[in-house]
Amino acid sequence: MSQWQLIPGLQLALDGPSGSGKGTVAKMVAEELGLPVLDTGLLYRLIGGLALQRTVALDDEQALVALVEEMLQKVAWTVDGISFDGENWTGRLRSEAVGNAASTVAALQPVRDLLLGLQRKIAESGCVMDGRDVGTVVLPNAQAKFFLTASVRERARRRWAQLKDDGGSSLEAVIDELKVRDQRDRERQHAPLRQADDAIVIDSTTMRVDEVVDRMLGVLERRGLIRS
Ligand code: DC
Repeated sequence: MSQWQLIPGLQLALDGPSGSGKGTVAKMVAEELGLPVLDTGLLYRLIGGLALQRTVALDDEQALVALVEEMLQKVAWTVDGISFDGENWTGRLRSEAVGNAASTVAALQPVRDLLLGLQRKIAESGCVMDGRDVGTVVLPNAQAKFFLTASVRERARRRWAQLKDDGGSSLEAVIDELKVRDQRDRERQHAPLRQADDAIVIDSTTMRVDEVVDRMLGVLERRGLIRS
């Protein structure tokens, strides 16, 4: 049981670039408050992963839309991630190749439109949702919005530390890839990564995860959204 009392239907939006730590923080805040958590990046990663597996071209809008429609029929949430057609896909969606494919398909408006309804439905009775456009597009009325960031080098270092266990690339290569992905996510025409005007920015470059979580809980408490 959570020690906190929450206002009914509390929605928290947590956006930020790749490697900002938003996934970890979202999970911890959700657990602390007893709310469900949705990592929206997993939806885009699943489309990217399916496209790679089926060798669908990442600019073939029609085929990708068909893929999203199929995905919406067969997707399910597992305790720690996502499954498709009864198979757990979470582990294989973590690679850089899938992340890049996700970022490419995420630039297509029809793909985003199809995923919007699902995300809003999941959030209906309250949740912590993390992504790129949660505060700006998916949940513009969320009671609290956070934008988590960190320096490129620090974000790459975190990513690299995760990948290195799988025998991954050098730190410099991860920095270069991250810059490309940041640019694509920030400069795309539809729902680009940007902080909502009413978002609170937290730079986690020199902060521990628990410090970020405490800062967020403090904001929620001061605003009367949660009470201990
Ligand atoms: O957060 P992530 O690295 O798992 O996300 C993978 C890609 O998906 C990211 O580069 C951009 C895209 N994405 C998005 O466009 N909108 C979201 N709400 C979440 C992710």
